[in-house]
Amino acid sequence: MNTVQAPIPDTTPLTGINADEALWYKDAVIYQVNVKSFLDSNDDGIGDFKGLTLKLEYIRDLGVNTIWLMPFYPSPLKDDGYDIADYQNVHPQFGTLDDFRTMLREAHRLGLKVVTELIINHTSDQHPWFQAARNAPAGSPQRDFYVWSDTDQKYLDTRIIFTDTETSNWTWDPVAKAYYWHRFFSHQPDLNFDNPQVIKAVLKIMNFWLDMGVDGFRLDAIPYLVEREGTNNENLRETHAVIKKLRAAIDASYKNRFLLAEANQWPEDVREYFGDGDECNMAYHFPLMPRIYMAIAQEDRYPIIEIIQQTPDIPESCQWAIFLRNHDELTLEMVTSKERDYMYTTYASDLQARINLGIRRRLAPLMENNLDRIKLMNSLLLSMPGSPILYYGDEIGMGDNFFIGDRNGVRTPMQWSPDRNAGFSRADPQRLYLPPIMDAVYGYLSTNVEAQSRDPSSLLSWTKRLLAVRKTTQAFGRGTRRFLRPGNRKILAYLREFGEDTILCVANLSRSAQPVELNLAAYKGRVPVEMLGRTAFPPIGELPYLLTISAYGFYWFRLATDAAIPSWHEQIVSVDERPVLVLFDGWMSLFRERVVPWRIGIAEKTRAQFETDTLPRH
Ligand code: BGC
Repeated sequence: MNTVQAPIPDTTPLTGINADEALWYKDAVIYQVNVKSFLDSNDDGIGDFKGLTLKLEYIRDLGVNTIWLMPFYPSPLKDDGYDIADYQNVHPQFGTLDDFRTMLREAHRLGLKVVTELIINHTSDQHPWFQAARNAPAGSPQRDFYVWSDTDQKYLDTRIIFTDTETSNWTWDPVAKAYYWHRFFSHQPDLNFDNPQVIKAVLKIMNFWLDMGVDGFRLDAIPYLVEREGTNNENLRETHAVIKKLRAAIDASYKNRFLLAEANQWPEDVREYFGDGDECNMAYHFPLMPRIYMAIAQEDRYPIIEIIQQTPDIPESCQWAIFLRNHDELTLEMVTSKERDYMYTTYASDLQARINLGIRRRLAPLMENNLDRIKLMNSLLLSMPGSPILYYGDEIGMGDNFFIGDRNGVRTPMQWSPDRNAGFSRADPQRLYLPPIMDAVYGYLSTNVEAQSRDPSSLLSWTKRLLAVRKTTQAFGRGTRRFLRPGNRKILAYLREFGEDTILCVANLSRSAQPVELNLAAYKGRVPVEMLGRTAFPPIGELPYLLTISAYGFYWFRLATDAAIPSWHEQIVSVDERPVLVLFDGWMSLFRERVVPWRIGIAEKTRAQFETDTLPRH
């Protein structure tokens, strides 16, 4: 594995204020929403754009600044919309193009950016392109939109991704009388990116949405665009050439837009999706995610440090996208088989919770609903290098239901209130696209936005506070990262630095209180100010800085140069430990015999006695 960390120069350096606007995604906090799951405005049991528009203020108030929308295009919905039948429209279940425009306008008005899905590796087999292709003669331009073969014995070095449902990447089409290639479900034929007409068609789709004002695209399943015999058909040079074309087309005509690569690959392979700053602006850090779960289960920081060290530097203008959970299974493709076994035993002892190479569970149940662990995970998400993505519902600790097939158990209706259907829809409960979570712990009667909004100590209120604190510095989004190496490996400690700001993050990955001594000699004299409570801690001195952290606790400190040292730190004796002079008969009694000098404390007298005794008598 490549561990060389040489900084990569950007071919197109950006400077000044415009540069900052163009780099907005470096400060992004992204909220992932499924339109169908958020709010149903017309009581048909399925969420829609009008419903989402009504809830944009909720999203804004959460403290995020970007929304990522899962696919909403016309589709047979056999893969939840990742099987597109028409790229330039809205599925009637979710509303109309006008509803989309209204939502987009309103989001922008509220200061929210909107990122949509560009799913170009494959289409639905219902897409008119595929229908035309299978009916067109072999070798014709229409047939050439997809990847065909007379045999299913080509590209045999290619892995199967949906191992639970597919046995081959080829499927026989009786109409075309040929096999077609698909990396995912057999109803999702792969487009042929060796055909320039396909690239032209994709550019047209991109322009359609960019012209409307969409701020960026998530490039779904991007490593698999091009196939070559003798390779594993992932991350090929030819695939990168296609992405460069898409990026150049965006840069030529639009400002401040971005591409996010969904490349579930090892860090050094994902690195290639940034190119020289001329491919994707962002890419998910897939391998980091399971290692955060491993670190907290093993109570050892090693898995996190190891994967970050294996992560090459990326161009200045680029950014990682980091996440804890999303709409898919918690993928275990980018771990070793030993690590996978560990993850399965720890987090999915119930075999039903497993799917493909992953675990279909949400964050709260994975953390066994331990609020301290959930908070710790979120604190890592919001302070590690990259732009964090929050999955809808995780901000209130929603549960899952892995009995309902595929990955649907983590795609259930948003839980707004204890009302019928979780306040998501007024439809007959039987019409809902999926049943809401109803168990006693995570069910909507106990876990919902309404209740948590009224409770200042709820997960929702806490999440808002943490997001607000994150916003006070750009160090989390843009800063450098340096790990500290305290002897106690149950503690993960790192510094994030940007401009004047130095942030120290310290996390206790274990289930019991832990002490830690941090070598902060380079910051001698600075005053650590805990960011959530704004409490000043004693200044950093000569000795290692000693902290104790409660089970699963964490601190974010600003290492301030301008904060006052806590006054109590300087005093030798604290105020309530000073001797108390008790006067029995007004201050004049000070000069009489009955004075009890230097009685310690007032506890030996009742308050009434004390007050009477100390009131001056005339
Ligand atoms: C999406 C999945 C989808 C697959 C096929 C993935 O990257 O996240 O939900 O099933 O692409 O389109």
